[in-house]
Amino acid sequence: MTAVLMLVMLSGLRATLADTPANCSWGQVAGVWEFHIGPGGYDSRLRCSSFTAVESFKLSLLFPDVVLDKDGNKGFWTMIYNQGFEVVINQRKYFAFSSYTKEDDVVTSFCNSTFAGWSHDTLGKDWACYYGIQFSQSVPDVDPVTTRRVHRDDFDGTFRNNPDFIKGINSVQRSWKAVTYPEYHGMKISNMAMMAGGPSSTQSFPLPATMDKATREAIKHLPKNFDWRNIDGQDYVSAVKDQGNVCGSCYAQATAIALESRLRIMTNNTLMTTMSPQDVVSCSDYSQGCKGGFPYLTSKYAQDFGMVEERCNPYHGHDTACRPYPADCRRYYVADYQYIGGYYGACNEGLMMLDLVKNGPIPVSFQVYDDFRQYHNGIYHHTGLKDGWNPWKVTDHVVTIVGYGIDPSSDEKYWIAQNTWGTDWGELGYFKIRRGTNEVNIESIAVTMTPIVPNP
Ligand SMILES: *[C@@H]1O[C@H](CO)[C@@H](O)[C@H](O)[C@H]1NC(C)=O
Ligand SMILES: *[C@@H]1O[C@H](CO)[C@@H](O)[C@H](O)[C@H]1NC(C)=O
Ligand SMILES: *[C@@H]1O[C@H](CO)[C@@H](O)[C@H](O)[C@H]1NC(C)=O
Repeated sequence: MTAVLMLVMLSGLRATLADTPANCSWGQVAGVWEFHIGPGGYDSRLRCSSFTAVESFKLSLLFPDVVLDKDGNKGFWTMIYNQGFEVVINQRKYFAFSSYTKEDDVVTSFCNSTFAGWSHDTLGKDWACYYGIQFSQSVPDVDPVTTRRVHRDDFDGTFRNNPDFIKGINSVQRSWKAVTYPEYHGMKISNMAMMAGGPSSTQSFPLPATMDKATREAIKHLPKNFDWRNIDGQDYVSAVKDQGNVCGSCYAQATAIALESRLRIMTNNTLMTTMSPQDVVSCSDYSQGCKGGFPYLTSKYAQDFGMVEERCNPYHGHDTACRPYPADCRRYYVADYQYIGGYYGACNEGLMMLDLVKNGPIPVSFQVYDDFRQYHNGIYHHTGLKDGWNPWKVTDHVVTIVGYGIDPSSDEKYWIAQNTWGTDWGELGYFKIRRGTNEVNIESIAVTMTPIVPNP
């Protein structure tokens, strides 16, 4: 690649601090890539805003998650939603966001190249910068996807409680109950959008993978009802958080809840720490601060940099500068992280149940419709009704699944999930949602991770 193109891509990288509008699919990214790598030997403080490649090599990204190098060594890759991809091969990891440009209102994704990204050995000791250029595609139709940018803040109006909408939801079905939340009345719609912060709204999620025979067999041995809040009277789930309405930090909150709860499970509740989502918002280059992010990349941040405790960087609910912490702020790491099923596109209900019971609460992304906001109790499913009064836009959100069950009277299967909208919302901050039908895409993109229990 020419120096000029590299410069263009790097100035684009600085612009990504605002948002990540790249929209790349598996089909566009699969194929042969050339990775251009800068000098190694750095630690995790390495900044990749400018570097000179000293080496390059080709990799084939194949179906469904297989990577091959020229010597036939095999590795692994996954898309991270529509944002970029991670490759692991020959004891090294590579992650970069897909490239795009933004001119006036037009976003153009260049799924055939990446911005400058991060590469390190699997122990995280030897870091280098890199970028990737697609050499050839396994699937035709490589033209960049040109899209109009979505103006999230177009509508400057405020939310008004709409009793007719609530009545509508409660009359078309009996599974769950809607309610008006007085605290939403008068809130700016743009702020309500910040109560989410997951994957951007317009991408179509992949369907869950079909359950294979081994998974169908394995789930037969699981309990019918399971809830990490009550395992023989013990509660292993950390407290409900409130992300506020000016920061789309749900991805950091939900990942923190999963990590905290998994540490409690691993230590039989002897280690009950609260992690700092603000640290992720302020300091992680793998996410976009209050503009959103992903549990997969937050778990990667926890592996590469570690998360600190809440007291080290208490939640402000807006973007703040990343500052050094006092020396007694220890970091909590994860040994590994992955999409449930192995790669993005391989998730399903059975694998989620198995991971939940074996390892603990799991962060999941899903599509928030305007009826979800009014949830009071019961088993949520999208009614298809729209709040005609309020011009609410579909947004996307991340929450943490802590259990599952079957309703004894209706036989309806559900997940139990912890939301990050405080304890006044829903069932003391929790909600139930239909299970086994990929309701609002909740079974398409679940993440699992293994925290490392620190020495006392
Ligand atoms: C990527 O695709 C675009 C559009 O097809 C093309 O103009 C550009 O040259 C490609 N970039 C590289 C590095 O191949
Ligand atoms: C992203 O691409 C998918 C198809 O791969 C399309 O359905 C979706 O509308 C696109 N999103 C945007 C914002 O263009
Ligand atoms: C876990 O903690 C509970 C409550 O303190 C205790 O009753 C139980 O024996 C502990 N289990 C183990 C395996 O240590």
